[in-house]
Amino acid sequence: MDNVVEIKHLQKRFGKFQALKDVTFNVQAGEVFGFIGPNGAGKSTTIRTILGILRSSGGSATVFGQNVWSNAVSIHKRLAYVPGDVYLWPNLTGGEVIDLFLKLNSQKHSARTDELIKKFDLDTSKKCRTYSKGNRQKVALIAAFSSDAELYIFDEPTSGLDPLMEEVFQDEVLALKNDGKSVLLSSHILSEVERMCDRIGIIREGTIIETGTLDEMRQLSRTVVTVTTKQPVASLETMDGVHNFDAKSANKAVFSVDSEKLNQIISAVSNLEIVGLQSTPPTLEDLFLRYYNQEGDSHDGE
Ligand SMILES: Nc1ncnc2c1ncn2[C@@H]1O[C@H](COP(=O)(O)OP(=O)(O)OP(=O)(O)O)[C@@H](O)[C@H]1O
Ligand SMILES: [Mg+2]
Repeated sequence: MDNVVEIKHLQKRFGKFQALKDVTFNVQAGEVFGFIGPNGAGKSTTIRTILGILRSSGGSATVFGQNVWSNAVSIHKRLAYVPGDVYLWPNLTGGEVIDLFLKLNSQKHSARTDELIKKFDLDTSKKCRTYSKGNRQKVALIAAFSSDAELYIFDEPTSGLDPLMEEVFQDEVLALKNDGKSVLLSSHILSEVERMCDRIGIIREGTIIETGTLDEMRQLSRTVVTVTTKQPVASLETMDGVHNFDAKSANKAVFSVDSEKLNQIISAVSNLEIVGLQSTPPTLEDLFLRYYNQEGDSHDGE
């Protein structure tokens, strides 16, 4: 089976409000799929539908080839999930809750669990009511990472973690990937997505607007170049594929170039006798800002 998660034209209405309009993407076996989009775009709603917590209003969603609504119980035995807002039993200790989560998932506290508790540096003897947001997330993450599942779903799991713990999280996700597990990760932390995800889906206002590898998405975007030439740079400004032209002097300019026009533009630059050339490929952040933006065009990539 190639697709662990398969979502086609998924829709979800809450009364009159349509939170999901057209969500289509797959998570392939053995990949880390990044699910990104602005606040309120529909990431958590999609994930809750995949988990069978919400019932869709249209379209289809399967996990392991099974319908997410009618087969939720058997699907849940094979997946681990960490939400962004982790609620724990206030009177139980962190350690007790980890074991409870494991038990609920038919898993056992193992050497691996202890290793994770150490790595995430969690004091498991404290009552959950005393835990900070980050510590509550650690409890859920430790239980999930110590579960032997085929699919791991994380919905903004690291919003409360400090950079050191963020690093531990990323290492653990990469370890899952090396073990051939599949991961669906929704996140606002772009470096996290950039480092770990094989493919990315971007959702905006309930609709998936782009899916692909980061490289494929970069192809759709622009490279920022800074050139210094012997001859005047002004002639470049009107070339097809050049945007946001900013002449720093008669012989130096910064502008962005459509990826498919890069070749022509660079030849034109070289005709002007290059003294200096610096190019910066679009970062994920540039791509985000461009996609998040309604017009999709007002960001100059600098
Ligand atoms: N139970 C609900 N009833 C009514 N509206 C809801 C419900 N749950 C979510 N929504 C609405 O659906 C939209 C999508 O919400 P969702 O939580 O899926 O966004 P998100 O992409 O996860 O955002 P964030 O990045 O802030 O977590 C929002 O407009 C939200 O207000
Ligand atoms: Mg959310």
